[in-house]
Amino acid sequence: MVLINAEPRNFLHWLVNVKLSRIVVMVLAILILTPLITHFYLSKVERNVSSITHNAHSHLDLPENVDVKEIDLRVGVEELVRIRGSVLSELRDIEKKRQQFKQELQTYSKNIEELKTELAHHQTNLNRLKISVEQAQVAMHEALEQNTPDLALPKKLTPDSLPHILPPIPRNRSRNCRMFSCFDHSRCSLTSGFPIYLYDPDQHAVMNEGWDVDGFLKTTLKQVLGYNPHLTQNPKEACVFLVLVGEALKDTDDVTENIGNHLNLPPLDSEALKRLPYWGGDGRNHILLNLARRDLSAINGDIFSSVDTGRAILVQSTFYHDYFRPNFDLIVSPVLGPPGGDVWHECSHMVPSRRKYLLTFQGEMKINKAYITKKQLVFVDEELEKENTELNNFILEHLKQLANTHTSDKFLFDFECVPASDDSMNMGPQDWALCGTDSSRMSVLKESTFALIFAPSSIEYVSTTLLQARVYEALRSGAIPVILGGDQVKLAYSEVIQWKRVAIFLPKARVTELHFVLRTIPDEDILLFRRQGRLIWERYLASVQSTLDTIVAVLRDRLNIPPLPADTVAAVSVFNDTFQPILVLATGDVEQEESLGPLEPPYNSPAYRRNYSLGLTQGHEMWNDWGDPFRLYAALPMDPILPSDAKFVGSGRGFRPIGNGQGGAGKEFSDALGGNNPREQFTIILLTYEREQVLIDSIARLRGLPYLHSVVVIWNSPRLPSPELRWPDIGAPVHIIKAARNSLNNRFLPLENLQTEAVLSVDDDAHLRHDEILFGFRVWREHRDRIVGFPGRFHAWDLNTKNSWLYNSNYSCELSMVLTGAAFLHRYYLHLYWKWLPQAIRDKVDEYMNCEDIAMNFLVSHITKKPPVKVTSRWTFRCLGCPQSLSEDDTHFQERHKCINFFSQVFGYTPLLNTQYRADSILFKTRIPHDKQKCFKFI
Ligand SMILES: *[C@@H]1O[C@H](CO)[C@@H](O)[C@H](O)[C@H]1NC(C)=O
Ligand SMILES: *[C@@H]1O[C@H](CO)[C@@H](O)[C@H](O)[C@H]1NC(C)=O
Ligand SMILES: *[C@@H]1O[C@H](CO)[C@@H](O)[C@H](O)[C@H]1NC(C)=O
Ligand SMILES: *[C@@H]1O[C@H](CO)[C@@H](O)[C@H](O)[C@H]1NC(C)=O
Repeated sequence: MVLINAEPRNFLHWLVNVKLSRIVVMVLAILILTPLITHFYLSKVERNVSSITHNAHSHLDLPENVDVKEIDLRVGVEELVRIRGSVLSELRDIEKKRQQFKQELQTYSKNIEELKTELAHHQTNLNRLKISVEQAQVAMHEALEQNTPDLALPKKLTPDSLPHILPPIPRNRSRNCRMFSCFDHSRCSLTSGFPIYLYDPDQHAVMNEGWDVDGFLKTTLKQVLGYNPHLTQNPKEACVFLVLVGEALKDTDDVTENIGNHLNLPPLDSEALKRLPYWGGDGRNHILLNLARRDLSAINGDIFSSVDTGRAILVQSTFYHDYFRPNFDLIVSPVLGPPGGDVWHECSHMVPSRRKYLLTFQGEMKINKAYITKKQLVFVDEELEKENTELNNFILEHLKQLANTHTSDKFLFDFECVPASDDSMNMGPQDWALCGTDSSRMSVLKESTFALIFAPSSIEYVSTTLLQARVYEALRSGAIPVILGGDQVKLAYSEVIQWKRVAIFLPKARVTELHFVLRTIPDEDILLFRRQGRLIWERYLASVQSTLDTIVAVLRDRLNIPPLPADTVAAVSVFNDTFQPILVLATGDVEQEESLGPLEPPYNSPAYRRNYSLGLTQGHEMWNDWGDPFRLYAALPMDPILPSDAKFVGSGRGFRPIGNGQGGAGKEFSDALGGNNPREQFTIILLTYEREQVLIDSIARLRGLPYLHSVVVIWNSPRLPSPELRWPDIGAPVHIIKAARNSLNNRFLPLENLQTEAVLSVDDDAHLRHDEILFGFRVWREHRDRIVGFPGRFHAWDLNTKNSWLYNSNYSCELSMVLTGAAFLHRYYLHLYWKWLPQAIRDKVDEYMNCEDIAMNFLVSHITKKPPVKVTSRWTFRCLGCPQSLSEDDTHFQERHKCINFFSQVFGYTPLLNTQYRADSILFKTRIPHDKQKCFKFI
């Protein structure tokens, strides 16, 4: 500190204030006049004195007197000259001093300015430290207060033994099996991870002589189960054992000829089952898979009904009411799709909501020859059967009439057609056979708003392969299934899938109200049904892979064993032991004029807190809405929040209410995160490609950014950073991750070192201010499921072609996308980007080297059914003087038009939604830009 004397300061101050020239004149005047006047008076007095003394002889020597006068004058002049000289030198001195003072003044004011900024700087730092200390104290207090330690995971408990041999249970008991009576829970501890063991279908044949399992299924099943993380090779630790028993095929070519032979010999050999090495006498924890594929003939009915399957769980598409054990056996959809991979191209577009036909049906009533022998297995109520047949006839009559009524709605009923193939599906004594070929039916379904599906005509069936196949077909084509006799049947996985939202179930007696009901359904609901149907179809039915994953997941879900954690991508640093970055303290234009929050050490977001409750409280949404029931995520954007009083009463841990709950603005606001979620931090992901200096500057600007957990730089270039590069030390960890290859998809890699839920994705050249970032973060905390960011764009309907979208980045009062060049989003979506999005979308991103941000907007809007949130930004993002990125380029734009249209095709609709809303901080005063028109004139 330099102390400045008040006196010279005041003087200097005055000096500055008075006009300088005037001062000079005045000082000169004073300096010159004072000695002159003094001298004049003094010399006058002297002269007077001398004139008095000389008076006596003044008359006598007059000429002498003249001489004296001359001399006096000369002396006076000399005196004056001398005085002038001394005055001049004094003046010069004073001028020099003045210059000195002026210079000093300048240095002092410079010093003052410097000290002022230093003071402000220290003040902010001090405040920051104070907040940080306070926050640390709160955290410590919390840690001390918490009297229960974090729950440690019990040791993974898996059995280490093969199942013991127990005596088989009588059939009358096995027919009533439920999980509590027939399942051995001791093999499946909650922490076991649900290991499953597959008997190799080639080594453990369980079919009778003359039967075999479909070869395609055998190989495909082995292959796709190989991708399932639950699969284990060790039978000792297995919780359940999978046995592939079907689809059973007669191993001769001519099926019809052999019907007579195999009637007495069921496909399944119960003795072979008992010989399975881990059967344990009663088949505990065994899952018998009978998967049907339509294009191969099977006429087996319920192949298990005549076999003793002990305590095994049965999985198939055909069940008698009498034999189906609810919440024990599992109804599945036939595996009609490909082994795995993208399935979107099989689906038709979802709009328009209303298609050419309101309702269609194609099928012919057929007699099932194989049924007759099955009849002895189930109790048939002759009276009921008779009533049912009468009802069926009435329904037929009514529908035929309906097709001929004069209404604007179109129906297509085809009751007499060429059946697809003889005995193609499991049927009752008589049932609706499929009509036409797969593709001919598909083309009709694509033009149908609703697809009529009959429950099996014999009422002892709860499900048949045919019924499930019809539902499958309808959903694939976006026709909403209308199941007449819906109260008789159960669809696949009905313990987890809410089929009410997918299909319309009507009792047969409602056939006369059918037309009315369908007509009342508005477009919104039609599209909801259709979208839900597509979601269910894609996720659970479409391929062999999805079917098997679903079977495993449903069984696991029953036991409330959490899924295995979602895969993350290994974060390989570009640096290693010999190649280390050079760190320098970051400088540059760090905006620190405002304290924006505490600087804290990295604090990981709490993870995996709901392993055992998520499936219970939100399991329904997991299966039917936004979730992924196959994997466990560290945290979800849809995790529930506490009521606001809970954080003051009982559950306050981690919360940082503003003003400790009193609220406030200014300091109180910047001190605490507030909001409805506990404290957290965010990670910045920077994607970069060969712009080292731009990147370095961007990183340096992050120094002192509160709530920043760490920075992850994805190094997309195959060339490693130059070893001379000086990396800024910003006080938070910076990870430079080597990308496997140059791809924009890498922006969304679910890296293992992302420790926070909030991720700020930024381009390497985006220039965001600290306050912008933190405001964005606070807004995101209230919209955790959405993209929250700065650059808004929209998709505009092309009025020229009238059938496609255009990408638009102009100013507009409506937007539908927020680009991920500067946006917050939840880590969960990074997983979904790689797991949920069809590969075709990531391929398109690679093809164009473009559009990854559009893809992410599609994904998030698809899941949330909400638009993104745009946040107020004060400045532009692009740094001035930086090499311009491609984005202004025309081909770049053309590609983005194409991307939107292609993505819409893949999704089957355009999930983007418009928003006219922007988030400002509550006390923000909007400044009107001069050159721009606002949406409203005064607000
Ligand atoms: C089950 O069958 C066994 C023999 O077949 C019989 O002894 C037993 O009483 C039956 N149990 C029930 C509950 O019907
Ligand atoms: C470390 O990385 C550098 C640069 O890629 C490479 O030349 C070197 O061999 C690596 N050293 C080790 C120990 O992996
Ligand atoms: C929850 O699951 C995760 C991932 O499997 C695991 O790391 C974590 O320890 C589990 N926590 C508890 C309390 O079970
Ligand atoms: C954007 O605005 C400019 C000027 O208003 C206009 O010329 C241009 O066509 C607009 N671009 C798009 C894609 O709408």
